[in-house]
Amino acid sequence: MYVSDLALTDFRSYPEVLLALDPGVTAFVGPNGQGKTNLVESLGYLATFSSHRVSADAALVRAGAQRAIIQAKVVRDGRSSLLELEVVAGKANRARFNRSPLPRARDLAGRLRTVLFAPEDLSLVKGDPEGRRRFLDELLVLLSPKLAAVRSDYERVIRQRNALLKSAGTQRRSGTKLDLRTLDVWDDKAAVAGAQLVAARVQLVNALRPHLAHAYTQVSSGQSEARMFYRASVDRAMGSTGRSAAGRPAEPGPEDPEALTDAGVVEARLLEAMAHLRGKEIERGVSMVGPHRDELELYLDDLPAKGYASHGESWSLALGLRLASYELLKADDDWHESSEPVLILDDVFAELDTRRRDRLAELIAPAEQVLITAAVAEDVPEVLEGARVDVMGSVATCVR
Ligand SMILES: Nc1ncnc2c1ncn2[C@@H]1O[C@H](COP(=O)(O)OP(=O)(O)OP(=O)(O)O)[C@@H](O)[C@H]1O
Ligand SMILES: [Mg+2]
Repeated sequence: MYVSDLALTDFRSYPEVLLALDPGVTAFVGPNGQGKTNLVESLGYLATFSSHRVSADAALVRAGAQRAIIQAKVVRDGRSSLLELEVVAGKANRARFNRSPLPRARDLAGRLRTVLFAPEDLSLVKGDPEGRRRFLDELLVLLSPKLAAVRSDYERVIRQRNALLKSAGTQRRSGTKLDLRTLDVWDDKAAVAGAQLVAARVQLVNALRPHLAHAYTQVSSGQSEARMFYRASVDRAMGSTGRSAAGRPAEPGPEDPEALTDAGVVEARLLEAMAHLRGKEIERGVSMVGPHRDELELYLDDLPAKGYASHGESWSLALGLRLASYELLKADDDWHESSEPVLILDDVFAELDTRRRDRLAELIAPAEQVLITAAVAEDVPEVLEGARVDVMGSVATCVR
């Protein structure tokens, strides 16, 4: 697929901008702070409902404006459709598809698929588990849009459940007798939504694994093997820690890799774990088990990437994760409907050494559409010769 037209209203630094885009490579070039990232960020947001730079939507709305509007025409298999998203800071977004309002903004999920590479990706390897969970969930929603609803249901259920656990803790400390029936209801809800999310993530990790190994070999010098495992909190909840006494990771990989691909099995195990942990959960006032506590573990050979991998290796792994996502989205298997995503590279080439830069460029050059931002044109590798848009003072001008 590719984006043929992009229009922004009050998005970031842009009061108004209209851009026509072609398939193939387009480079957005201009000095720092002129609005290059803002342009491509809008497309990333339209695809995933989240920005690679901020967690709160408020920053996306132009200072002084009430709401931002992103409109994009997306061409897929020769058919064009119009996606529109209105971002209102602190309120629910509104979406339209081919001019018809959608009941919920998330119903737009999956209509535009992007894979975005950015300097921030390094934190996929070096940062907290939350970023890796978000990586999986965003990819899941692109592959299987109905999971957007499961994901937001789960988040809502956990917030409610945490509130209940907290008030149960307060009651217990004040000596009031606890009525735990309401909590049972929320355990069930958390287990149902949580199990769907865990099973989907485990299946995704299994599908991504060979792509990651392959992509890592291609962008690195290929001395070690990149491996990924989903470590579920439900596996640890019943007493096994998954860690050896010395604090070093145990054998990489989950305790029972196949079991967790079945949502029914996961649901039963989540319920069992919640029953086991109830006293502790009430004491601490938080939900201690479920997909919000799980980890995507990355290894180079037998060593965890986090804390062990060099800076260059970490970069290769981060690129590997994005390239693997790209391969999986366009892969023609029967697990999900395939469609080549739009590739977005925000300021990535300036961060890479020549070798990685050239390998990456070769790998992405054949993609249907590649959008690149760079401060200077020389940062864009030669094999990615294509259209150029100059960006200056939040005005974008097509040069060629
Ligand atoms: N909500 C907003 N309202 C108004 N201006 C904003 C808003 N958010 C960001 N900006 C402005 O947009 C500009 C940054 O744009 P952007 O990040 O796209 O720059 P860039 O061209 O990618 O720069 P660099 O080369 O440094 O990455 C900044 O000057 C910033 O102040
Ligand atoms: Mg930028």
